[in-house]
Amino acid sequence: MRCAENIVLIGFMGAGKSTVGRRLAQRSGRYFLDADALIESAQGKAIPSIFDEKGEAYFRQLEQQSARWLAECVRGSIVSTGGGMPMVVEKLRDIGTVVYLKISFEKILQRIRPEERKKRPLFNDTAKTRMLFEARERIYEKRAQITVDADRDPDAIVEEILSKIEEKQNA
Ligand code: S3P
Repeated sequence: MRCAENIVLIGFMGAGKSTVGRRLAQRSGRYFLDADALIESAQGKAIPSIFDEKGEAYFRQLEQQSARWLAECVRGSIVSTGGGMPMVVEKLRDIGTVVYLKISFEKILQRIRPEERKKRPLFNDTAKTRMLFEARERIYEKRAQITVDADRDPDAIVEEILSKIEEKQNA
């Protein structure tokens, strides 16, 4: 069986990786995989519990492990990564074509309401989260092969990703 290449979505929390990823999967005949959900399934615990019980450094090791598995074992999928994975996994391109969903911090604050921030271990303090965002932006840029403006209708984003991938393949 010939399998399509994976597409890896990166970007900050709230950039829309899951929403866009699911639609991109349907539109392109791929499966949708969420790296956070893979880690949760392997650990039998939700991300906040992993952070609480084992700490962030341990979680980052799990992300590196999941990235190795994705690169070795998965084809034909859309992979949505946790917002911090590009900081600890340099070779995301070994998994597939890396697409950065770029969005401003102001938009993220509008999208992730205060009650939802509690579910995210790194979203407790807005000023700290903004600093994290600013520090990460250049890493996302560096890892990405394709960058798209994520402050738009998800279907429009999906179409742009597919046409940019085609352009890249024909280049
Ligand atoms: C994190 C983002 C989360 C999750 C964890 C850490 C981060 O994923 O991996 O809470 O460091 O930005 P989402 O980007 O899917 O919310």
